[in-house]
Amino acid sequence: MKGLILSGGKGTRLRPLTHTAAKQLVPVANKPILFYVIENLVRAGIRDLGVIISPETGDSIQEAVGDGSRWGVAITYLLQDKPAGLAHAVSTARPFLQEAPFVMYLGDNLISNSITKFLQDFQQESADAMVLLKEVDNPSQFGIAEVGPDGRLVRLVEKPKEPPTNLALVGVYFFTPAIHEAISGLKPSWRGELEITDAIQRLLEGGRRVTWRTLDGWWLDTGKKDDLLTANTHVLDEWSRRDIQGEVDGDSTVSGRVSLGAGSRVINSTIRGPAVIGEHCVIRDSFIGPFTSIGDHSRVEASVIEHSVLLAEVTISHVDRLEDSLLGRQARVARHHRHRCLQLLLGDDAVVEF
Ligand code: G1P
Repeated sequence: MKGLILSGGKGTRLRPLTHTAAKQLVPVANKPILFYVIENLVRAGIRDLGVIISPETGDSIQEAVGDGSRWGVAITYLLQDKPAGLAHAVSTARPFLQEAPFVMYLGDNLISNSITKFLQDFQQESADAMVLLKEVDNPSQFGIAEVGPDGRLVRLVEKPKEPPTNLALVGVYFFTPAIHEAISGLKPSWRGELEITDAIQRLLEGGRRVTWRTLDGWWLDTGKKDDLLTANTHVLDEWSRRDIQGEVDGDSTVSGRVSLGAGSRVINSTIRGPAVIGEHCVIRDSFIGPFTSIGDHSRVEASVIEHSVLLAEVTISHVDRLEDSLLGRQARVARHHRHRCLQLLLGDDAVVEF
């Protein structure tokens, strides 16, 4: 069994962060989404991983992930030269996959469930493919499944204008090599892509067995700011631990599940978990509230922050209250004491709401 992680694409929905970074590397609780994906596959016993990368962000993905030795696995990078769809990515990976069955996992999908049980079921049932489904509120933005009265999968459609159900295809798929033949006959969809959804539909039409499971835990297709904040909240709520490596001075209080990285200092401040603060940060005269993640080398002074995600090297100074915010690398928000006005230097697609 091999693993195929799709980590190409441009991530337009998370701009401006993704002008400079791949969407799969955007951190949740200070860890790139892609690492959760790798860890889920590794925990299910998969040791041979292929990672699809694009010319735009491939280098940064390779730099962040490395050769897989930190997880004890082998990683093969596979360049997809154009964003021609998920099924095109699978055919790009064919020399790596050969005749092996595989789990395909979209590198920007974060799920709370372990995939281990699903993988075992797939192997025991000896189906040709298995998909995971989850009810969503906005079905026209996903691949959608129709299930018959007998519980069999009847039809799959990609981003339908009039969705027949609200059962979305989650970005984790289990395939046998039967999928390759289905892909070889595909035509591009209305959005010009070779859709994996259409390939699975062809399996159904060809009389192949495609089974499904529903996901009972949360699923975040971390495409937008609010999704990312929600993902951060879930991960901190469920998976964070108390781990204080940095220094906390006598005038500070750090309560609950707080992770404070090595070389970080907390001075005259209160930190209330769940929260994660990276390495080499300085938190001075401030309050950091629950569900906040702060990246390495950041500085917070005389400010209150809650329910926010700050990437690395962010500076926040004299901000009365910052909440529900997502700040990219090296962002700086500072209130000047004397001029009570905003003085901003904002990049493309920046959003300021106050
Ligand atoms: C892709 C699939 C879609 C699936 C979704 C899950 O959509 O085409 O069927 O529901 O991933 O994240 P895309 O991210 O390409 O819009």
